[in-house]
Amino acid sequence: MLRLKNLTKTYKTGDKALTNIGLEVPSGQVLALIGPSGAGKSTLIRCINRLVEPTGGEVWLDDLELTKLGSAGLRKARRSMGMIFQEYALVERLTVMENVLSGRLGYVGFWRSFLRRYPQSDVDEAFRLLDRVGLLHMADKRADELSGGQRQRVGICRALIQNPKLLLVDEPTASLDPKTSRQIMRLITELCRERGLAAIINIHDVALAQMFVPRVVGLRSGEIVYDGPPTGLSPDKLTEIYGEEDWEATIEAAEDDDEIEAAE
Ligand SMILES: Nc1ncnc2c1ncn2[C@@H]1O[C@H](COP(=O)(O)OP(=O)(O)O)[C@@H](O)[C@H]1O
Ligand SMILES: [Mg+2]
Repeated sequence: MLRLKNLTKTYKTGDKALTNIGLEVPSGQVLALIGPSGAGKSTLIRCINRLVEPTGGEVWLDDLELTKLGSAGLRKARRSMGMIFQEYALVERLTVMENVLSGRLGYVGFWRSFLRRYPQSDVDEAFRLLDRVGLLHMADKRADELSGGQRQRVGICRALIQNPKLLLVDEPTASLDPKTSRQIMRLITELCRERGLAAIINIHDVALAQMFVPRVVGLRSGEIVYDGPPTGLSPDKLTEIYGEEDWEATIEAAEDDDEIEAAE
């Protein structure tokens, strides 16, 4: 169980990104955090693993208060939180396999990983994960030879090889075309289900969120303005979250895509 209590973040510039956020995510639950650009989605998930230091409030993962930890404790706690990024954050000149194994850095000591001596059990698990995401045949390719969708699959494997209990996912599909976006969302949510993983998936695209998760949290200007099932997102609610942005057009576009896909 992840618990945020009165989580607040004001950046040094004076930007108030989050105000008194309260949120509970039970073990194994996958939720989508939606909201317009600048709403505070990235700040929220980064405050959880303290890539961004909160200015107030508490973050609890099970019985551990993450906001109280010193650097050694935090390093250890971060093992249980996998992260997936919009821009994949792969090391371009390394192979797919090496990128996946780098997810074990929190466990394997620096020198061992520097010398690329990962335990055989890690290598075996990397092969299993690559097989699961359909990239076994790409294990020896360099990351810079991959398509966007393939890169994100590597990003997913790198997060999962950490054996986390929580996945923090920041706009995983923002750099992908609509069809690949759906495949990646399906893959992430399926893997969470298979492994009993909780996840917070930041996603700008309402339609994609609605397709794949049972719970949606809507953020606007650093405050939660919706928390419930995707079916509860009425047009009024969406306007409250997104303001005057044309969310209706994005939903219609996604429906058109689905019809095309169904016809293929
Ligand atoms: N490093 C930073 N320094 C100052 N302000 C920031 C920083 N990162 C984000 N912000 C501000 O915090 C607010 C929330 O940003 P962000 O968390 O990136 O939102 P989102 O991910 O929903 O687009 C915005 O007003 C943004 O300008
Ligand atoms: Mg963001």
